[in-house]
Amino acid sequence: MEDRTERDSVTYTVEDRIAWVSFNRPDKRNCMSPALNRRMLEVLEELEFREDVGVLVLTGEGTAWSAGMDLEQYFRASEKEGLGAVRKAQREAYGWWERLRWFEKPTIAMVNGWCFGGAYGPLFGCDLAIAAEEAQFGLSEINWGILPGGGASKVITELTGFRNAMYHAMTGENVDGRKAAEWGLVNEAVPLAGLRHRVTIIAKVLLGKNPTALRATKWAVRRVREMTFDQSMDYLVRTQEAANFFDAEGRNEALRQFIDEKSFKPGLGAYDLKRE
Ligand code: COA
Repeated sequence: MEDRTERDSVTYTVEDRIAWVSFNRPDKRNCMSPALNRRMLEVLEELEFREDVGVLVLTGEGTAWSAGMDLEQYFRASEKEGLGAVRKAQREAYGWWERLRWFEKPTIAMVNGWCFGGAYGPLFGCDLAIAAEEAQFGLSEINWGILPGGGASKVITELTGFRNAMYHAMTGENVDGRKAAEWGLVNEAVPLAGLRHRVTIIAKVLLGKNPTALRATKWAVRRVREMTFDQSMDYLVRTQEAANFFDAEGRNEALRQFIDEKSFKPGLGAYDLKRE
């Protein structure tokens, strides 16, 4: 019974090269229990190298994206068992967020509803984020007497400015999807009714790009955030050189289509991948 519950805590389907992965504990507002965290890592690993998956979308069943950590099972139950259990639970959660940050394929958070505290970990783990205007984002930790741990304090300062971050963390006031877009927590907000449609459009744009270049690009953008300017320059030169040496077919075909054939313009869209 326990295994089945763990298995069902995350569901997914793959349609037209888009993997739609859902937090699936709607009755618990998709809060992250240790069982859900274990299952999510398995699901990410199942999907990461599948040929029929080009983009991963992370969303939630019901009214929540995720109400953060499971206060009962992640905090109280593991604390009762002692420090070892606490550390194990942390590792299970942080492990899949890290896997998501460095996922081989582009990822989109489709934030359909409540998004609290610990959920900022996977929110930042996704490369892009599109929210429902009706969604609610909050660092609710202050409301129950802890600091925004689990990376949440770091995520809020990575995504928005100092004053917004401080206000959000200290007051525990929620912001809706529109405000979250204004602050930079998500790329944009659309009405809930049109959310899946909008995310599908963006996923299809990504599916039309060279997948090797996409992976290199998303990793480069994440890596250079933590580097000095000169380190970034060096990293980018080396990474591009490695790609040119090992994986230049796509770019050579693109150059052919632009320079020789004049059949596309890089400034206006992607080259035709099917002719590689
Ligand atoms: N941990 C444990 N249980 C949670 C939970 C969480 N983070 N979030 C929701 N639940 C449970 C509730 O206890 C309730 O369980 P029950 O049906 O067994 O009583 C169930 O999910 C439904 O929650 P409820 O509060 O009735 O739903 P709501 O739609 O009225 O409110 C929230 C939704 C998200 C506003 C509210 O559940 C909430 O504040 N959750 C905690 C959010 C939070 O602080 N997260 C940060 C954790 S780091």
